Amino acid sequence: MNIDERRFIFQDLRSVEGYIDPPDALVFKALLQAQTRDGLEGGMAEIGVYYGRSYFLLRKFAQVQEKVLGVDLFEMDPPEDGSLDQYDRLMENGRRLGFAMDRDLIIKGDSTRLAAADITSKIGPVRFFSIDGGHHLHHVLADAKLAMEAIAPHGVIVFDDTFNPAWPEVTVGVADFLRTHGHSLACFAMTKYKTYVCHREFHAVYAGAIADEPDLQALGHVETQFLGSAVVRLHNPMRRRVMYELMVRSGLGGFSERIYRSKVKQVRDSVAGT
Ligand SMILES: C[S@@+](CC[C@H](N)C(=O)[O-])C[C@H]1O[C@@H](n2cnc3c(N)ncnc32)[C@H](O)[C@@H]1O
Repeated sequence: MNIDERRFIFQDLRSVEGYIDPPDALVFKALLQAQTRDGLEGGMAEIGVYYGRSYFLLRKFAQVQEKVLGVDLFEMDPPEDGSLDQYDRLMENGRRLGFAMDRDLIIKGDSTRLAAADITSKIGPVRFFSIDGGHHLHHVLADAKLAMEAIAPHGVIVFDDTFNPAWPEVTVGVADFLRTHGHSLACFAMTKYKTYVCHREFHAVYAGAIADEPDLQALGHVETQFLGSAVVRLHNPMRRRVMYELMVRSGLGGFSERIYRSKVKQVRDSVAGT
């Protein structure tokens, strides 16, 4: 990972209120860069952009010709004091981080009412689709169907908050969806928060991209099975999560990325004096 990418993931993204944490940001980066390396092009989309934390991660790794579309109700935290609302804060965050913000690519509305053509007509077939909108069963099933119909053959679908006891219907929705479409779709990776899915034909490509990614070597890679496919569970030990939070809260956020470097890399860096 170069310095610019490291600064973006470990510093810039933290300046945007939101929910993606370093392990998933590193998985997004690994998959997006593997797709680019392999010539697997396409648009990117996210349902539930909130203030843009994971949306801007997609923007960071999109190629110039690729478009990134966001969908949200934009009804969260309506300000009573005349300050910027959710939509305007998203736009403001984008400009602050140096992204051109195209209003045509930010859909304000209920994702469950969209058709795949509403997305593909703007950005083409989708190579990476992040689902982080409504967390009840009907939302998850509708968003999953939408994503399935909008992705390219090599597209990845990422579900947020799977296996989170706070949102049990997300887990049920993802399991129902995979049990219904398991002949064509397969899960290839899981983290504490997210579940990563692709067409069966690309399972080996994405499983390999994760296994080989140097920036994911600091995480534990544990093989498991989920609804008929081999899945790697990326495990981030509690002590590292605690250390990361302590560093961020004590103003040492700039150094927090060091705890996500693999031991091999850390030894190499300390020998090189970086
Ligand atoms: C947990 S936040 C998303 C966090 C975000 N991905 C991030 O990286 O910080 C969930 C978002 O989903 C949006 N949302 C909830 N239900 C929705 C729906 N039916 N259609 C579109 N967006 C929805 C909410 O407005 C909220 O902004």
